[in-house]
Formats: sequence, structure tokens, C-alpha cells
Amino acid sequence: MAAIVKGVDRIDETPMVVHPQPVDYAGLVPAPSIIEFSGVTKRLGGRTVLDGMSLQIRRGETLCILGGSGAGKSVTLKHVVGLLKPDAGTVKVDGVDITRARNGELEAARRKIGYSFQGSALLNSMTVFDNVALPLRELDRLPEPEVTRRVEETLKLVGLADAGTKYPAEISGGMKKRAGLARAVIGRPQIVLYDEPTAGLDPVMSSTINDLILALQEKLHVTSVLVTHDMTSAFRVSDRLAMLFQGRIVKLGTPEEFKASDDPAIRQFIHGESEGPLTREPS
Ligand SMILES: Nc1ncnc2c1ncn2[C@@H]1O[C@H](COP(=O)(O)OP(=O)(O)OP(=O)(O)O)[C@@H](O)[C@H]1O
Ligand SMILES: [Mg+2]
Repeated sequence: MAAIVKGVDRIDETPMVVHPQPVDYAGLVPAPSIIEFSGVTKRLGGRTVLDGMSLQIRRGETLCILGGSGAGKSVTLKHVVGLLKPDAGTVKVDGVDITRARNGELEAARRKIGYSFQGSALLNSMTVFDNVALPLRELDRLPEPEVTRRVEETLKLVGLADAGTKYPAEISGGMKKRAGLARAVIGRPQIVLYDEPTAGLDPVMSSTINDLILALQEKLHVTSVLVTHDMTSAFRVSDRLAMLFQGRIVKLGTPEEFKASDDPAIRQFIHGESEGPLTREPS
């Protein structure tokens, strides 16, 4: 098994062997990208949210998508699971073009993905335990003792060991967020999509969630795609950052490259300044 490679430049030289992966057409080398956006355009609500967006996400990396509110970050994640389909372009997940996948293929691709939604998207009629158990019962159809074991283990991981019997209405926003995270990772997906996982959490809990993201990458070798406004989290957990602006990825690089960037738009974003190219009206 290849070592976990944090330095992104080395990923190309040392392809990571993680979950059993499909191989390329010659049957020899695992495909380097697990998620591939090619020229994706999406119009929503009368505006072009994604405008020919291309991005390749490497197997085993943690990539953070940055961008202002309304830039299209959540829309980008929804394309990965096929909740939205592009008007033009393709999205491939583990080699499968999910924009054209038929039911069985789409289902198979989705099972590789855990999605932690921006709102926690818990079902109010079910306890936290049952919400988290849902993918194991519905998709994997595991025997109940195994479900209980896995749910208890995962609730403990996100600091909700005592909250299993509570209903979503009885827990705080931060607890809901963590329950949503537990549900996203319970099926041991190859890819985890985190939409604002630390928003609204206190610093200690944010740090716990960051540790969880790192632990999943290191122990289970998942590929993580993270959307966050929390630059501390972004710099701490990401191998690479991608800046989404006007429907395209305008910069892709390591945290060090972003920190050192003298691009006014990047500097404005990472320092949270109100004045700059990001907030200037298009001329
Ligand atoms: N289902 C939809 N119907 C119409 N417009 C939509 C839909 N989903 C998203 N949009 C629009 O697409 C744009 C991008 O939305 P998106 O949710 O991806 O933003 P975001 O980058 O995630 O922002 P935030 O940081 O506030 O979460 C917004 O203008 C939003 O209003
Ligand atoms: Mg969003």
C-alpha cells in the first residue's frame, strides 16, 4: 500500500492505492482523477452559475472549493451526486459519466459518495440514531446488530454518543450538523462531500470536525471535497484549494500557494476584506 501522500506534487509520482479501484483501459494504472468536471455549464434561476467549469479532483486528496456566497459551490457538489445535471459538459465519478449514467450506474456511483449537506437535511420524524442508520438499512441492508455497532461507533466519532435517542428538533444546530456528518460517512464512502461542515460550530467542535476529516483521509483514504468559508479549516485540512469565481475555477493550488498569492481576488477572499475585485461590480 502506498503511503499517504500529503504533498500534492508527489501524488502524481506515487499513485495511491486505496479502495479497490477500476483501472484504465489497459487494465494497468488506476485513473489519477476520481472526480472530473469538464466544461460544465449550468444555468439556474436565470443566471449562468457554472460557465464551462473544469476541475480534476485527485484520488485520495482533500480539495477545498472556495468562493463567495452564491458562487456555485453547493451547485458544484450537487453535480457530483447527480442531483443537478449540467446544461453542457460532463461530470465523471470514478470513470463513470454520471450525467449520462443509467439508473443502476448512477446508484452505484452514488454509493461511493457520502454527502454532508449545507443544511443537515435530517428527517425530523426519526431519531438521530435512525437518521444515521438510514444508509446502512436502506442501501446496504446490514443486519441490525451490525447497524447498531456502526451507528454507535460513528456517533461517538462525531461527539454524539448520548444523542442517538433524540429527535432533530431536540438538538442544537451544531449537533444536527454533526449528525449529518455521521450519516455522510457511515456507509464508508470513497468520496465525502462536505458542504460547510464547520459553519455555526464553536471552535472546539470545528477542530473536532477538522480532525475527523483528516482521520477519514488518513485511515480510510477517502477523497474529500470540502466547501467552507472557514479559512482556518480550509488551510488545515486541504491538500489543494480551488477558487470558484464567475462560474469557473480561477485558481487551483496548495494552501501555501494560496497564502503566498499576490492575486488581489485571492487575497481579498482569504483575508475576508470587503473591498476588492470580488465585490466590484462587473464593468
Ligand atoms: N435549484 C435552484 N434553482 C434556482 N437557482 C438556484 C438553485 N440552486 C442554486 N441556485 C442559484 O445558484 C447560485 C449558486 O448557488 P449555490 O447554492 O451553489 O451558492 P454557494 O456558492 O453554495 O453559496 P453559499 O456560500 O451562500 O452557500 C445562486 O445564485 C443560487 O440562487
Ligand atoms: Mg452553498
